[in-house]
Amino acid sequence: MVDKSSPLFDFAPYLGQREEVIGLIREFASHHAFRSATVEELALEEDFYRRPLRPEDLEFLQFKKPVPAERVSRLPALATQRLLLSLNEVGVARLPRLDVEGEFARFDAFYGERNQVLGARIRPFLEHYGFAFLGNEAQRGEAATTYVERLGSVIDDEKAFWAEIFALLVRNNYLVEGLRFIMIQRWSLAPSRRVAVERAVASGYFNSVMGDDRPDLATQTTDALLARVAEFVGVTRREHSYWQFYLPTSMAKSNLLYALGSRPDRAFALLGAAFVAEAEAIAFSAALAEACPHLVSPGVTHADATAAAERLVSRFARALVQMESRFGGEGIFRTGQGVAVAEKMAERARWDLGEQLKWLSALERFVQFAEKIDKRIADECPDIDRETFVEPRDMCSTTHVHNDHRLVVIRSRGEAPGAPQMWFWGNLGMRHEMKEGDKVLIPDGRLHGSTVVCEECTYDQPIIPEEWIEELLRGLPARVTAAA
Ligand SMILES: [Fe+2]
Repeated sequence: MVDKSSPLFDFAPYLGQREEVIGLIREFASHHAFRSATVEELALEEDFYRRPLRPEDLEFLQFKKPVPAERVSRLPALATQRLLLSLNEVGVARLPRLDVEGEFARFDAFYGERNQVLGARIRPFLEHYGFAFLGNEAQRGEAATTYVERLGSVIDDEKAFWAEIFALLVRNNYLVEGLRFIMIQRWSLAPSRRVAVERAVASGYFNSVMGDDRPDLATQTTDALLARVAEFVGVTRREHSYWQFYLPTSMAKSNLLYALGSRPDRAFALLGAAFVAEAEAIAFSAALAEACPHLVSPGVTHADATAAAERLVSRFARALVQMESRFGGEGIFRTGQGVAVAEKMAERARWDLGEQLKWLSALERFVQFAEKIDKRIADECPDIDRETFVEPRDMCSTTHVHNDHRLVVIRSRGEAPGAPQMWFWGNLGMRHEMKEGDKVLIPDGRLHGSTVVCEECTYDQPIIPEEWIEELLRGLPARVTAAA
């Protein structure tokens, strides 16, 4: 029997609750811990209770159509995943730090009943809204071997992606900076992925699989390797100090595990998804071992990583045999659903991260594009849609994305000709200085923020048609932008 009628996520039944839940979302986000960031808060001091959500965006986000697969990097997805990671982790204990003023009050406020209850009320709506695109790729009646092959494909696809990304970063002379951004996605969010699975394990979710055949998100060799690389690129603070640099799809991977782990009826799906999460971790370690052997040694070798991948696939096959013998085809289907949603999530995350790194690693090129586009605006459509901002010193925008392609064009002159007006960034440690007349192109969905560094900065953001961007990118040599 083929049955496509039972997706894990389906937003349709929640649409009717929209107005009520949007009110609750705004209420949740109005908590002091979730206010927008100040200029000093670009990276946080290991402050688990501080998560800038840009609550001002929630005044206009509509939450009408669930996030589609091709828009996982846009503002509704970013806001949803930031909200979900915050509300999921009001159930994760981080005890207060010593000698930090007001820490106990913030500890109490973050974990208080208000956040617990509001979080629980908005969670189903946000999960179905943010994950409906993961669809229904698994079907009843598919053999266990299908899912074993799919897990193998995830490892191959991830390894191929990382190989291309590392080659791109080397070509664009952006390896250390690019790795820094990557480690924020992989290393800083690893504890969130792990706790989502481990507390479900403690609640008996994987009891039908023998201990040695379960997914393992805490292998020590992988941790040691990642810790070394993270330290090398300056990602040394604990979660969530680099909160502003999480891509929506990176948070979505943690939130997906939390979503599946929050309800025992999703135990089968969590099993499949956790195997995919481990596959991603193994593939990343293998790619690191190949790309940066000097950082890896002494530790995981490429051969070790390849063997780990083979062991994982065998372990998954054994787990499925156990599930099938106990639960038959329904057990395979439900576990396969978890593989399928996590597989699709992994693919979308590769795309999102690839686009961010293509942009960051070739920023000078996007400055040149901005010059060309600005001339074209002057020649062809001087009245193009644009927003103009006038901002005082230290005005800082919490990192965000736009749903369209935009230029930033600095109009004001500042105290003296050539004086810096704004710092613009899209990565930890990045500070792209902009003065009068400077421009940069921000493609839609690219994470960025800025700070005004003069008395008053005036800048325009013309909104650029998709066709213009396509024309420009067609003119690029493939090796500059190539990624998976
Ligand atoms: Fe912006």
